[in-house]
Amino acid sequence: MKGIVLDLDSKNKISYQEVPSKSLEGDQIRIQIKAAALNHRDEWCRQGKYPNLTNGVILGSDGAGAITEVGADVKGFQIGQEVIINPAMNWGDNQEAQSKDFLIMGTPHDGTLCEEVLVSADRVHAKPNHLNFEEAAALPLAGLTAYRALIYQAKTKPSDKVLISGFGGGVAQFAAQFALGLGAEVYVTTSSPAKLEKAVSMGAKGGFDYRDSQWVDKSNAEVGGFDVIIDGASGDGLNDLIKVTKPGGRIVIYGATQGNPATLEARRIFWNQIKIMGSTMGSDQDFEEMLTFVQKYQIKPIVDSVSPFSEAVEAFDKMRDGKQMGKIVLVP
Ligand SMILES: NC(=O)c1ccc[n+]([C@@H]2O[C@H](COP(=O)([O-])OP(=O)(O)OC[C@H]3O[C@@H](n4cnc5c(N)ncnc54)[C@H](OP(=O)(O)O)[C@@H]3O)[C@@H](O)[C@H]2O)c1
Repeated sequence: MKGIVLDLDSKNKISYQEVPSKSLEGDQIRIQIKAAALNHRDEWCRQGKYPNLTNGVILGSDGAGAITEVGADVKGFQIGQEVIINPAMNWGDNQEAQSKDFLIMGTPHDGTLCEEVLVSADRVHAKPNHLNFEEAAALPLAGLTAYRALIYQAKTKPSDKVLISGFGGGVAQFAAQFALGLGAEVYVTTSSPAKLEKAVSMGAKGGFDYRDSQWVDKSNAEVGGFDVIIDGASGDGLNDLIKVTKPGGRIVIYGATQGNPATLEARRIFWNQIKIMGSTMGSDQDFEEMLTFVQKYQIKPIVDSVSPFSEAVEAFDKMRDGKQMGKIVLVP
């Protein structure tokens, strides 16, 4: 069988190559991957910017497929069943934060960008019926991250005004869709007029270009402050987000694409009683709740493109350059 592996000594840093098939353990399920999807994490790995990298590891955290073999100790799954994989491993018992053993499929453990994967049965869930394999593959990592940030951390309500920063991002798009599903008033920031148009076509009330030096003033004049902000960029833009947060509002940070802020306006944070929270992926409980939420509101992931595993380099380059509008899906 073939998979997309980290190959840091090669020109493209990844290669699509033969990988050995493994034998199934009693608590595992073998899944024939029908579709897998990229996250920025995969590109961070390719750039050598992720901890615990090992050449040869099969990349990818998102996948959906059909069961081809069930371990002797596994109950409740059948051969042929259509499933998706929860890539968050060893979260632990504490819903507030992951254990020190927390891991994500695709580094350091083999991931989903492969014709076949073996996973522990407790990572396997029935594919939501309203999603095809490509849509289902787009959901796990980004959907889980967005769900925990928006619902568990921010406790977003239908009456909230919500700002999703960097709408072009995979997590951001789920956060926007979930907030719209709840019935909240949703705005986005984006560098792309086309992405803003897409957000508005989905039901967002409006948006701003985070590169525009006037966007904070424009937003405060138009919206009057946000109750909830979901951000994956961090960097100096965090101070802008603080300026558009209502007194008592919540900012949830799940990423730092722009690195750390050089300064932080502490006075504005405490005076305005702003809560800034961090969030990472989610627990098993969050994953199950996310699947229920997605089915209840019939949410369909936005898929940018579906291409074969053999075109992985082009797909990773697109993720690197931020040219996608939705999740980049790869199929064997
Ligand atoms: N903690 C976790 O569990 C977790 C999970 C998933 C991702 N992450 C992290 O979250 C970040 C986003 O991940 P992703 O996979 O969703 O990313 P992605 O699909 O690669 O999205 C990147 C997007 O970031 C936006 N962006 C760039 N600069 C920005 C700025 N200054 N302000 C606001 N937005 C900006 C751009 O949006 P526009 O195109 O609209 O301008 C771009 O499309 C990454 O750093 C990733 O490592 C963390």
